[in-house]
Amino acid sequence: MNMRLVRPTAYGSPDVLDVAEVPVPEPGSGLGPGEVLVRVKAAGVNPIDWKIYSGAFHDVDDDHHDQAGVDIDALPRIGLECAGVVDGNEVIVYPVTAAYADYVVAPADSLIAKPATLSWAEAAGLMLTGTTAAHALHAAGVHEGDTVLIHNGSGGVGLMAIQLATHRGAKVIATASEHNFELLRSLGATPVAYGPGLLDRVQATAPDGITAALDLIGTDEALDTSLALVADRTRIASITGGPRRAKEGIKLLGYGPGEDAGAELRAAARTDLATMAGAGNLRVLIAATYPLTQAAEAHRAGQSGHTPGKLILIP
Ligand SMILES: NC(=O)c1ccc[n+]([C@@H]2O[C@H](COP(=O)([O-])OP(=O)(O)OC[C@H]3O[C@@H](n4cnc5c(N)ncnc54)[C@H](OP(=O)(O)O)[C@@H]3O)[C@@H](O)[C@H]2O)c1
Repeated sequence: MNMRLVRPTAYGSPDVLDVAEVPVPEPGSGLGPGEVLVRVKAAGVNPIDWKIYSGAFHDVDDDHHDQAGVDIDALPRIGLECAGVVDGNEVIVYPVTAAYADYVVAPADSLIAKPATLSWAEAAGLMLTGTTAAHALHAAGVHEGDTVLIHNGSGGVGLMAIQLATHRGAKVIATASEHNFELLRSLGATPVAYGPGLLDRVQATAPDGITAALDLIGTDEALDTSLALVADRTRIASITGGPRRAKEGIKLLGYGPGEDAGAELRAAARTDLATMAGAGNLRVLIAATYPLTQAAEAHRAGQSGHTPGKLILIP
């Protein structure tokens, strides 16, 4: 039996994505011990998916890993989170690779029971951003009584970070464009417009000061504002990498050189995220859904940098 698999055929723009017909893995051919075959119902789209084939991480080290730790030989595998069905059970699958497909092979420990209250799209979009946000809040030590500045509050990670920080009892100030202010307010944040004058606006909004900051966008503006406002640099966490950030004594989170991947913490965070989302205490905001065959369209939308929340593919 065959299935559809979306994969890049080269480095480049979303034009390099191809919908291939490949055999469904079976025991002995692509399905190993400790692995399960999941029928994908929805797959989450993340910026890492297009970065993998864009050339952004193109420098390859001696072990044939690029700057993001991605194995170049595994280049065609995109789609790092999904939700689906295995043996009649509804599951969230994270982390995984090659989820832009009708079926995906997953290690058994990547499965978390899908809360019945979540749609397939919500379930597929919960974990990569949710675990990243949980890691960033942990790294910056965000707790009750803090005032935390979240750069890019309207992105997939930012929308999760706002909600998780609010649940911890922190006051949240988050940057966004005005068209997303109401959304951020509905999640408990005080929105502030990003762009020239950001430092003054944040100071006016938080006269008692900012105790921690999350850089979820990677701009000079986000870094400079955080450094100016947060006295303790170990309470600034960035998920965006880049050489400037490596010199500033802040926490660098991710898969590049010198960054903390937080694999154990992120894996452990999945249960709480599923429980919170299932109980209606954590929303997965969906910006748009696309048929699997329109993955390139979804990537073009994501690359525009202005989607509020998750992009989701539906096989
Ligand atoms: N290290 C890790 O483990 C890790 C994990 C996940 C993601 N990441 C990285 O983190 C970044 C964010 O990921 P994401 O999925 O949250 O992105 P995303 O959902 O694609 O972010 C889109 C949002 O960014 C906002 N935005 C654009 N320019 C901005 C600016 N200058 N200042 C503030 N907000 C701005 C847009 O709002 P407007 O429409 O208002 O412009 C839009 O809502 C990406 O670079 C991603 O690769 C790293």
